[in-house]
Amino acid sequence: MKSIASSKSSGLVRITSGIPGLDEMIEGGFPFPSVIMVAGGAGTGKTTFALRFLAEGAAKGEQGLLFTTLSEPTQWMLRYASQFDFVDPDQFGDAIAYHDLGTTIREAEPAELLNEMEEKIAEIMPQRIVIDPLSVMGSMLKGDYRSFLFDLTNRLKNWNATTVVTGEVSPGELYPSEMSYAADGIVLLLMNEEEGARRKYLEVLKMRGTCHMTGKQSIDINRRDGMVVLKSRF
Ligand SMILES: Nc1ncnc2c1ncn2[C@@H]1O[C@H](COP(=O)(O)OP(=O)(O)O)[C@@H](O)[C@H]1O
Ligand SMILES: [Mg+2]
Repeated sequence: MKSIASSKSSGLVRITSGIPGLDEMIEGGFPFPSVIMVAGGAGTGKTTFALRFLAEGAAKGEQGLLFTTLSEPTQWMLRYASQFDFVDPDQFGDAIAYHDLGTTIREAEPAELLNEMEEKIAEIMPQRIVIDPLSVMGSMLKGDYRSFLFDLTNRLKNWNATTVVTGEVSPGELYPSEMSYAADGIVLLLMNEEEGARRKYLEVLKMRGTCHMTGKQSIDINRRDGMVVLKSRF
């Protein structure tokens, strides 16, 4: 683990996203520390985005922590993640620690869930945290989801980390509004049917302290880069 090698622009410390083309849109990277929401429908690339963000940190010697929420067997997650060239499976459990919250979300009170997360963060001391998907907690959590999100983001901001939380949206919904209030940044992932083909886009809706590019940018998802913002529209 090492300290953040960051560029300073507009007085903020920044951390690179790892997504080729995205950092140029946001003055060099995400503010550090911050909470960034990545929202989109099924299959728009949220998990791909999150993995690229963690792999970028691991490549730079930064510690990562991946919270999963679905109680999927770890082997599944690793098998899918390993399909990407930029993912080194040996880093999982080491440079990229992971911890599943599924059982606690279903069985415990929100306060216990927050404590479990905070204990893990204190143990691992990550610079990059991912919660994927965060939005499942809305329907599974015992207790009030909004106050949980408020407490969660407040606590995350006390740690020296940039956290990417993913939010699954239903068709027609842009982003989970209950998650948006507390986020320092909102990145939308979109998929449109155009001329018989499904085209994918990324849009930076909000990035605090950042003069960011606006509007939808075409993206590609592939094995080598994970996600890449295509330059044709720059
Ligand atoms: N290794 C890969 N090579 C090419 N495309 C991939 C690969 N992995 C995933 N994809 C594409 O990316 C899409 C989005 O995957 P994912 O990031 O899991 O979406 P989400 O988490 O938003 O549901 C997949 O449905 C698939 O089309
Ligand atoms: Mg996913």
